[in-house]
Amino acid sequence: METKIVTDIDVCARAIKGGELAAFGTETVYGLGASCFDEQAVAKIFEAKGRPSDNPLIVHVCSLEQAKTVAKEWTEEMDRLAKAFWPGPFTMVVKKAENIPDVVSAGLGTVGIRMPGNFLAVEFIRMCGVPVAAPSANTSGRPSPTKAMHVYQDMAGKIPYILDCGDSVKGLESTVYDVESKTVLRPGVITPEDIAKVAGDVGVSRGEKGTPKSPGTKYAHYHPTYRVVLVRGKNIAKKIEELCKSANQAEEKYVILDIKGILKNISGEYLSYDGDLNSAAAELYSLLISYEGKTDVMIVAGIEPKGIGLAIMNRLERAAAGNIMDT
Ligand code: TXA
Ligand code: MG
Repeated sequence: METKIVTDIDVCARAIKGGELAAFGTETVYGLGASCFDEQAVAKIFEAKGRPSDNPLIVHVCSLEQAKTVAKEWTEEMDRLAKAFWPGPFTMVVKKAENIPDVVSAGLGTVGIRMPGNFLAVEFIRMCGVPVAAPSANTSGRPSPTKAMHVYQDMAGKIPYILDCGDSVKGLESTVYDVESKTVLRPGVITPEDIAKVAGDVGVSRGEKGTPKSPGTKYAHYHPTYRVVLVRGKNIAKKIEELCKSANQAEEKYVILDIKGILKNISGEYLSYDGDLNSAAAELYSLLISYEGKTDVMIVAGIEPKGIGLAIMNRLERAAAGNIMDT
């Protein structure tokens, strides 16, 4: 199959109406969309991504009215959350309406709903005439795409269209929030503190015991082709110095990601955001992807898991996949 990057919304909307897939950009990451009512089209998403079928998809809507059509009920609290955070990087998990097929919700009684904060994405959904089910537009396990070209590099030959909506300005997937249990299932740039202002006390799922509520959080994720080593705690600088020495001895190429600019006097290639967490979040996946083929290991200085730092650390912990050192 030939894969085209296009800017014509109509072409992509017609593909969706015809039971095909189209990737599209949002402010968080690129999504791989299908009509949420078309089970066969949705099945193609799972196939293209190699996604386990027990991992539900987020349903993307263009308006509050459309959101109400996929929820079983629309409560006053849901209304307040929607008005506070939509359009934006916020997904509400709520009781699903009967019209949502099991393939979308992975058999759960709930559905994740989001109105993306990218004008072109919203216009695309409006022109599709149906809510659009979409996971991130990457092969399962890979870093999520934040540029049309990332999607192309990963999915060429597997999907017909990629709607270029520009680079994703937020760069991390939406916050997934379960309304009933008042729990953040996946952290994002909308923080638990932000949600608490609208919904009162909220918890954060750590996913350590039992079945995680957000099925996706149990799978390996965000893996670039090289190793990521994440160093946390009080003696980060000392540990990283040691790691650099052993990398040098092993003649391994390494790069250091020091988001807050806390390291001094360690030789090597540095990436730093001087504590600008919004920029770090926006560029994280792009950065992970850009070092593929160029390094053997990325050594990362951990940051405090607070505010947006919680979401950044969540993604880094999973990218490190067990290569986490507490000092
Ligand atoms: O920003 C985003 O959320 C992007 C863009 C494309 O909108 N989408 C995205 O989708 O990240 P995906 O499929 O890669 O991640 C969705 C996450 C998964 O962890 C999934 O398990 C969880 O949301 N999820 C979806 N529906 C759910 C539900 N009904 N209950 C619990 N978790 C749900
Ligand atoms: Mg994903």
